[in-house]
Amino acid sequence: MKRIGIIGAMELEVKQLKEKMRIERIVEKAGMEFFVGTLHDIDVVIVRSGIGKVNAALCIQILADVFQVTHVINTGVAGSLNADLDIGDILISTDAIQHDIDVRVFGYQIGEVPQLGYREFVANKEMVRIAVESCKEVNPDVNVRTGRVLSGDQFISNKDVKENLITTYHGDCVEMEGAAVAHGACLNHIPFVIIRAISDKADDSAEMDYPTFEKAAAKHSAALVEHMVTSL
Ligand code: ADE
Repeated sequence: MKRIGIIGAMELEVKQLKEKMRIERIVEKAGMEFFVGTLHDIDVVIVRSGIGKVNAALCIQILADVFQVTHVINTGVAGSLNADLDIGDILISTDAIQHDIDVRVFGYQIGEVPQLGYREFVANKEMVRIAVESCKEVNPDVNVRTGRVLSGDQFISNKDVKENLITTYHGDCVEMEGAAVAHGACLNHIPFVIIRAISDKADDSAEMDYPTFEKAAAKHSAALVEHMVTSL
């Protein structure tokens, strides 16, 4: 039986999805509210994880253990590391790496979690395909691309740090949860995809109007997820 875990970072987006779903119960755990119910008759659990890799890891493990989700979708915003990705565009993950791990002294690749045997957490190809198709269908005016998500417990707002992430990891966007969700999903054998709306350029460029951006991004993201759950 299919049950889709949706970890949303944006309050507005989660709110829009909650309004569309039939809520059966709300479970509170680790300071997070898990909304359990159906969206277009598909079983879903919608939750806001909070910021950072630890929150994201706790959240995915609860989705696995308590709710036995069969798929995980992680949505939110990210800084662009790719000149072709502008503010408002959407990036769908091919894979994800934790950019703040460095155990090279013991022979691991930079970004590789020791003893795991691989560095990149690869997104489920079918979920990637469906996410891209869904985005094109419901948000025809939005530029959508696939690429690599980098995650770390830092907000990146410096040109040199940004350049270093690009050279070291060849990432397309940077945020603070996706690779931790991906790590947890891989350990629990749950297929996943990360969907990120680009909110900034991860450098010192002028601040955008976040409330305006969030409104549009949340709308695009909620529409995409809604379409996606019916196609999985
Ligand atoms: N989320 C959105 N923009 C980000 C950035 N520049 N760095 C880390 N997380 C982000």
